[in-house]
Amino acid sequence: MSAVPLMSVEDLSVEFRTRHGVVRALERVGFSIARGETVGIVGESGSGKSVTAFTVLGLLPPAGRVTSGRAVFGGLDLLTASAGQLLEYRGRELSMIFQSPRTALNPIRPVGKQIADVLERHANLPRARRRDRVLELLARVQIPDPERRYHAYPFELSGGMCQRVMIALAVACSPALLIADEPTTGLDVTTQAGILDLLGDLSRTAGMATIMITHDLAVVAERCDRIVVMHAGHVVEQAPARTLFARPRHPYTARLLASTPRAGAKLADLTPIPGAVPDLRGETTPCRYRTRCERAAAVCDRPPLPREVVAPGHVVACARPL
Ligand SMILES: Nc1ncnc2c1ncn2[C@@H]1O[C@H](COP(=O)(O)OP(=O)(O)OP(=O)(O)O)[C@@H](O)[C@H]1O
Ligand SMILES: [Mg+2]
Repeated sequence: MSAVPLMSVEDLSVEFRTRHGVVRALERVGFSIARGETVGIVGESGSGKSVTAFTVLGLLPPAGRVTSGRAVFGGLDLLTASAGQLLEYRGRELSMIFQSPRTALNPIRPVGKQIADVLERHANLPRARRRDRVLELLARVQIPDPERRYHAYPFELSGGMCQRVMIALAVACSPALLIADEPTTGLDVTTQAGILDLLGDLSRTAGMATIMITHDLAVVAERCDRIVVMHAGHVVEQAPARTLFARPRHPYTARLLASTPRAGAKLADLTPIPGAVPDLRGETTPCRYRTRCERAAAVCDRPPLPREVVAPGHVVACARPL
């Protein structure tokens, strides 16, 4: 890992105003990513993975508000950047694969043209070469018969195929950082492996850094250098992938690993995580895992939530780590 991170997210807090009160979706989230690195973000549904990604890209919905923090990328704080600066960065330096690909594609423009548009806007490529580059990208994301599919509209393609078009769009300009939110959900296993190989290739050959948001711990174990574990809007633990799997220190991480099927595991060996992600409206306890945690004690109620560096690159937000 190089000394200067490619992107550094610090102290990021985000709230949503809703009819039922203010939802504190993220509280003091922090992590960083180096050039060429692949960082996995894992956690149950509602833990704040997508909100983190949207916030960094300046794509929070109007009900969302950043209440603290920075996301520094190439010397620029993305959270205070102008719309123009962000637009310039998005698509070229920074790119994202969304959780729902169909909504991210323009429904009334052929998919090949959409990718060509991105190349026109951001890549220094002569017009005559653009089409070839699009076909090459479509082939790389394993779209059969790219010549024909170039002219297809999103509604003519299956969900999995749209997903792959999204991925081609996202990597078209060789971004420095790709944020991939469940990039392979819904794809069959072979295509999934192909896409993940492509992302791995881009990281090795083009130095692309990837933030991989996923429920699939097998994917992060295999593909990520480091892992950030989120629970209820907090980063509860982060560590190099190998360390995290070998020796999780946060009780939530340990539960998350135990609740996930691994090769050769029996269904009976899986233990579900007790309780549910807490309600994030109004006041919350310093540790948001407190009510679910078998190790909870009085010390856990003392603010602020600790952040202990237990080994180089291994940080645990727990007063009573394992
Ligand atoms: N537009 C919104 N209005 C109100 N609350 C929101 C909004 N978007 C997200 N939230 C809240 O923010 C929290 C985090 O949601 P987020 O979508 O980031 O979860 P996630 O970790 O991506 O989950 P999943 O794995 O299901 O995609 C949740 O409590 C959610 O209810
Ligand atoms: Mg999500």
